[in-house]
Amino acid sequence: MSNVSSSPLDLSFVRSQFPALAGDWTFMDNAGGSQTLARVADRIRDYLLTSNVQLGASYGVSRRSGARVADAHAQVAELIGAARPDEVVMGPSTTALLYTLSAAMAGGIQPGDEIVVTDCDHEANIGPWRKLEERGAVIRTWAVRPDSLELSLDDLDRLLNGRTRLVCVTHASNILGTINPVADIARLVHRHGARLLVDAVAYAPHRAVDVAGWDVDYYVFSFYKVYGPHFAVLYGKHEHLAALPSLNHYFIDRSVIPYKLQPGNVNYELAVGCTGIVDYLAELGERCGAAGSRRARIEAAFDAIAAHEEALAERLLSYLRRRKDVRIVGHSAADRGLRVPTISFVVDGRRSDEVVSAVDSAMIGIRFGDFYARRLIEKLGLAAVNGVIRVSLVHYNTLDEVDRLVEALGRAMPQGR
Ligand SMILES: Cc1ncc(COP(=O)(O)O)c(C=O)c1O
Repeated sequence: MSNVSSSPLDLSFVRSQFPALAGDWTFMDNAGGSQTLARVADRIRDYLLTSNVQLGASYGVSRRSGARVADAHAQVAELIGAARPDEVVMGPSTTALLYTLSAAMAGGIQPGDEIVVTDCDHEANIGPWRKLEERGAVIRTWAVRPDSLELSLDDLDRLLNGRTRLVCVTHASNILGTINPVADIARLVHRHGARLLVDAVAYAPHRAVDVAGWDVDYYVFSFYKVYGPHFAVLYGKHEHLAALPSLNHYFIDRSVIPYKLQPGNVNYELAVGCTGIVDYLAELGERCGAAGSRRARIEAAFDAIAAHEEALAERLLSYLRRRKDVRIVGHSAADRGLRVPTISFVVDGRRSDEVVSAVDSAMIGIRFGDFYARRLIEKLGLAAVNGVIRVSLVHYNTLDEVDRLVEALGRAMPQGR
């Protein structure tokens, strides 16, 4: 990784790339959906207006369109550190891709096979695996420790055995913001002969992804949280994808990867639009002083993003830590190695929806709820206060914006009430 982590992020460049940021609203619900890069929207438009024919024909426009979609697979593979473009399965959403994968795996499940899920994931990475109980799978729950709200590797080790087939875990919790050490988890899971599937929806907007370096088996996230459109990617190691059956028509056999797992057409224009994300990150890395391969520039961009995000998180967390009536749900330290700036909290004596609606009038978009990590919110006993208040920051947010949020929170939850 290039040594540019102390480089400041060029925020005026960053913000100029997201036209929505020029409006009146401040966006701090980014873990719900980030703003979209202008160059992503431009590429979607350009594809639709110049290349929108069916792929696979012999005439020139069709060949060019096919090349653009193939290039999108290659660029996404580069973005996530995959060895080959056909390890990239595309689809409409993380939820849909995980239900697709679960359906593809169902036939290979034997009664008594074990699958580990957590109690802190978004339901998208629990429900599709619980469904395999219908096939006789035994579901084991890897629970966060009640004191630290962390997933412990020792606890996972105790859950694993010769029957374990798959472990499904989030890379970063969309409530707690905690980052899980997926390379360590992969080593442990592989030692027991099982496979690791990682939901990175809440991680990928914040840090460089390196599926091959971490040796994960499956890895999934959605581009609408990573500055792009409503579209998603599922990485699978080639040998795993090759072994899965086809979910496509009878004449599309299991050798046709990834098409056998993309029944119907993928959305060509959104796939091509996503190349704008890769391009933006590489340019941002260059502006942070990085040279060399595009991958090295992307990693440099994320180094700078992590440093900036840590400063944003610390500004908010230091305020929340000072408030005696606030409980931070997750790490109270901003350390970039421990967490992403998705910050949740509850306030003594207040429902979370009350606080959030009082902040709405400051034209700052934050949010309350369980964020579909319902099992975690129920376990923490927070359903009765309508879940947590969640402030989810990304690199285009500024310290000034956080200061304005702190003022709005101060008005929304006066102390000593
Ligand atoms: C951590 C996490 N996983 C999965 C999902 C589901 O993503 P999608 O809406 O693309 O299905 C979300 C959406 O908020 C999420 O935050």
